[in-house]
Amino acid sequence: MESIIIQGGKPLTGTVEISGAKNAALPLLAVAILADAPVVYHRIPHLKDVTTMMTLIAHQGAEVTIDDQSRLHIDARTANLPVAPYELVKTMRASSLVLGPLLARFGHANVSLPGGCAIGARPIDMHLKGLEAMGAEIKVEHGNVKAVAPKGLHGAHIVFDQVTVTGTENLMMAAAIADGQTVLENAAAEPEVVNLAQALRDLGANIEGDGTHKIVIEGVASLSGGEITVIPDRIEAATYLSAALITGGDVRATGCNPADLEAFLARVRASGALVETGSDWIRCAAPKRLQAVDISTMPHPGFPTDLQAQFMAIMCLSEGSSSIRETIFENRFMHVQELARMGANIHLDGHMAVVHGVEKLSGAQVMATDLRASASLVLAGLAAEGETQISRVYHIDRGYERLEEKFCKLGASIERCSGREPMMPQVDSFHV
Ligand code: EPZ
Repeated sequence: MESIIIQGGKPLTGTVEISGAKNAALPLLAVAILADAPVVYHRIPHLKDVTTMMTLIAHQGAEVTIDDQSRLHIDARTANLPVAPYELVKTMRASSLVLGPLLARFGHANVSLPGGCAIGARPIDMHLKGLEAMGAEIKVEHGNVKAVAPKGLHGAHIVFDQVTVTGTENLMMAAAIADGQTVLENAAAEPEVVNLAQALRDLGANIEGDGTHKIVIEGVASLSGGEITVIPDRIEAATYLSAALITGGDVRATGCNPADLEAFLARVRASGALVETGSDWIRCAAPKRLQAVDISTMPHPGFPTDLQAQFMAIMCLSEGSSSIRETIFENRFMHVQELARMGANIHLDGHMAVVHGVEKLSGAQVMATDLRASASLVLAGLAAEGETQISRVYHIDRGYERLEEKFCKLGASIERCSGREPMMPQVDSFHV
């Protein structure tokens, strides 16, 4: 199993180009299922999750090709198998994003129920309730969602019990070609949802209100083909900027949108860092030592849960104590114990973590547990004294394109090595 080896202690400086957003690309790929002509994609990131989604859509019979300018083309006119099998769904929960489009187009779909993951149970009950409100008959049996809409889908007024990003996306795609008006209340307002709404509009959909918590969709008969561009990955950008902050460096992230990171940048400024922004770039320079600040994760435009682990890492070396409240997922503190192995001083109390800043972190063998936790361990390793070995880095490959290459360009000493998991000491049976 591969691991990443980091020699820490070097301030990172320079410029990093940000890739297309994973969490925008995944729903955007599912849009092709709804289109009655080929769709060409720009700025699709080369990530494991994206490859999984492309494989899933090809499995359904669509033609998925990459041209000589490495642009992705999907022609779903040949699709004829509205299924998402467990073998693919188990590796990527976001496969459930094909359910709404498949049901809207074919009138039936069989999608494996995504299991939970390290950060929580992650049910899709709100997706299913919304589709039922739109006329679907849904049975969940043997781990599969079997949905039929014999009379097609019709508009509905749906109020989400809580904000759900992919739930909003799934239902927005289904509603795009449903019969009549659909209103989504308490909808997600993330930039990735706006990217999806704009892409659907470019293909002929009638959608208003995206970017707010009330989205109104007037169903149209069909969607044309066209071109779709993925927005920059705000989480990737903030991860590299966090690397500057934790190592005492100065990094400019280019090809990104500062407006998508206002809550994060406000907390970074509050911690004493220098933040400069332009139309498509953000620069962060670390002060001598960051001041501890508190955060509470919230749906957009609040502080993103996908940056909680990274922010915790930079707070480990801050002056003072920072309270970090995770309000979105029930188990998103798996990185705490691993950071503690590196000398961090963090106390957990339910959904709250209190980070008491320490003078230094020390390199250690640590284990990645989920995508963003992995990123926090890389950040800590970049700042720590000595060597850090992060195992199970397949988590990282799901969401960060060319991570080592980008960090090396900023001056980091980081490399990937394939090899066994760190050996466990042979322990004889205990003698009590
Ligand atoms: C999306 O996940 C993102 N993934 C996540 O990013 C992100 O952390 C999350 O939104 C929150 O911003 C993609 O966009 C592919 P939710 P999603 O539905 O849509 C509960 C990353 O690291 N819920 O907004 O699955 C749920 O359990 C990933 O890139 C239900 O109870 O998250 C959670 O507690 C991790 N029932 C809360 O709502 C439902 O039907 C928010 O989840 C749906 C959700």
